[in-house]
Amino acid sequence: MSNCVALMVERPETSGPKAPGPTHVAIIMDGNGRWAKQRNLPRTEGHREGAKAVRRAIEACVDQDIRYLTLYAFSSENWRRPAFEVDALMSLLRLYLERERDALHKEGVRVRIIGERERFAPDIQKAMEQIEVLTRGNQRLHLTIALNYGGRGEIVAAAQHLAGAVAQGRLTLDQIDEQAFSKALFTHDVPDPDLLIRTSGEQRISNFLLWQLAYAEMVFVDTLWPDFGADDLRGAVENFMGRQRRYGGAGE
Ligand code: FPP
Repeated sequence: MSNCVALMVERPETSGPKAPGPTHVAIIMDGNGRWAKQRNLPRTEGHREGAKAVRRAIEACVDQDIRYLTLYAFSSENWRRPAFEVDALMSLLRLYLERERDALHKEGVRVRIIGERERFAPDIQKAMEQIEVLTRGNQRLHLTIALNYGGRGEIVAAAQHLAGAVAQGRLTLDQIDEQAFSKALFTHDVPDPDLLIRTSGEQRISNFLLWQLAYAEMVFVDTLWPDFGADDLRGAVENFMGRQRRYGGAGE
């Protein structure tokens, strides 16, 4: 009997090293349109509410000790949406970059923008640069916002960059390895995501971080993005921590 008790005491379910939480969480923020539709509101209201959820997600990452957060805010395919919706998203982005800049800086958030920024209006490009320069020295949370971003385009641009370096004799063919390739991507100074979350019940990656998500765990939640909050993030992180990551190996 005493042995049995000892066993129970020594081997509780929660004993052993605690699985580490994710260092880097990437999120496909989906469901703004459906959120608005459910309320008979224009889609643009869903995006406005989605911007509030962005603020909540950043605060939740800071509270939950997540060091890197990457958000898919505008894909290279999103230009195909109706002009009024694209215009509304641009206005929201302009407002966000200008209004949140000081608050993010104060909270110790470093902001990086990834994607082809040349297609944005000059004042938006300027706001992107300003927020990056202002927050460059911050360390508490590394926030990456993907804007006019597409994973395939990023890979093609990296291949062109490396091929150009070979053509000019600055690089040899066998110097092109996975590390060199990673260094040629927008995300060269950010570790790969450990956890990808997509909201709204859709289960696909939609051209997001195709190279970087190679070993990420994926969690799909039904919550629509404007409703996403700290508890949803905690739930996804707990789900992640219950998984065994194998990176293609056999595991324990
Ligand atoms: C997807 O929902 C969401 C987007 C294409 C835009 C994401 C934008 C925000 C969260 C707000 C702005 C962000 C910043 C950083 C200022 P959807 O419109 O595809 O929704 P649906 O699938 O329900 O139609």
